[in-house]
Amino acid sequence: MTGDLTDFEAVDALAWQIELGADEAISEEPINRFEAAEAAPKPKPVMDAPPDVAVSEPSGPSDGGAAEIAASCSSLEALHAAIAAFEGCALKRGAKNTVFCDGNPAAPVMIIGEAPGRDEDLAGKPFVGRSGQLLDKMLAAIGLDRQSQVAEAAVYITNVMPWRPPQNRDPSVDEMTMMKAFLVRHIELAAPKFIITMGNPATKTVLDVTTGITRMRGTWSEFNGVPVLPMFHPAALLRDPLKKREAWADLLSLKAKMI
Ligand code: URA
Repeated sequence: MTGDLTDFEAVDALAWQIELGADEAISEEPINRFEAAEAAPKPKPVMDAPPDVAVSEPSGPSDGGAAEIAASCSSLEALHAAIAAFEGCALKRGAKNTVFCDGNPAAPVMIIGEAPGRDEDLAGKPFVGRSGQLLDKMLAAIGLDRQSQVAEAAVYITNVMPWRPPQNRDPSVDEMTMMKAFLVRHIELAAPKFIITMGNPATKTVLDVTTGITRMRGTWSEFNGVPVLPMFHPAALLRDPLKKREAWADLLSLKAKMI
C-alpha cells in the first residue's frame, strides 16, 4: 500500500501523470533553484531544456556525441544498441521504448517516417497504429509487404525520431537535427536501393530542404546517391482522403522505378 492507494492504484496514478507530461519527481518542500544551481554540478546539455539550463559544455560536442557514436557503429544491431543507450535527447525520458525499425533490412525500399506515436511507443515498432495499417494497405497495392522474407517484395521501415514526443507533438528541428547522424548511419548500413520519406519532417531531414511536402511529393531526389521519393504521410491521407490520388501516383512511380 502507498498512502490510501493500493500499489496497483499508485502505479496507475503515476502512469496517468506521466501521460499528462509530469515526467519528473518533485519534493514536498519548495526548492530555490537559483541557490541550488550555484551548488549543483552543471547538467549535461539535453534538448528541450530551457536556455538557462541548456549550457553547452565547453568541450562537449553540440549533438551530444551522436555523430561520433553513429560513425562507430558497423552493423544495424550496433546502431540499435547505440541509439537505445544515447542520453542526449530528452524525448527518450518520456518514451516507453526506443523504436528502431520493422520489416526486412535487406529490402530494396527503406521507408522513413517522423516519430513513433502511442501505439508504436508501446509496441517498440514503427507504423503499427492507424497510419501504419494504411501504409501496409498502400504497400500491398504495389505488391510490397513489410513481413515478406523475400527481400525484393519487402520493405524496411524506420523513423527520423526513435522516441515518441509527448502528446504526439512534432519533434522539434533541434531534436531531429541531433538525431540525424543516427538516421544517416541507419541509411548507410541498410543500404536501400530506394528511400521513401513520409511527410514533411522526414523529407526535410533527409533532403535538407525547406520546401513543403505538397511541392516535394512525387518528385525523385537523391540522398548520397540513393533515389528518394517524398510522399504524403499516411496520417495526412487519413485526414484528407482526397490526397490518396497523389499517393497512388507516387506508389506507381516507386513501382515503375523498381522494375
Ligand atoms: N507516424 C510516423 O511517422 N511514424 C510512426 O512510426 C507512426 C506514425
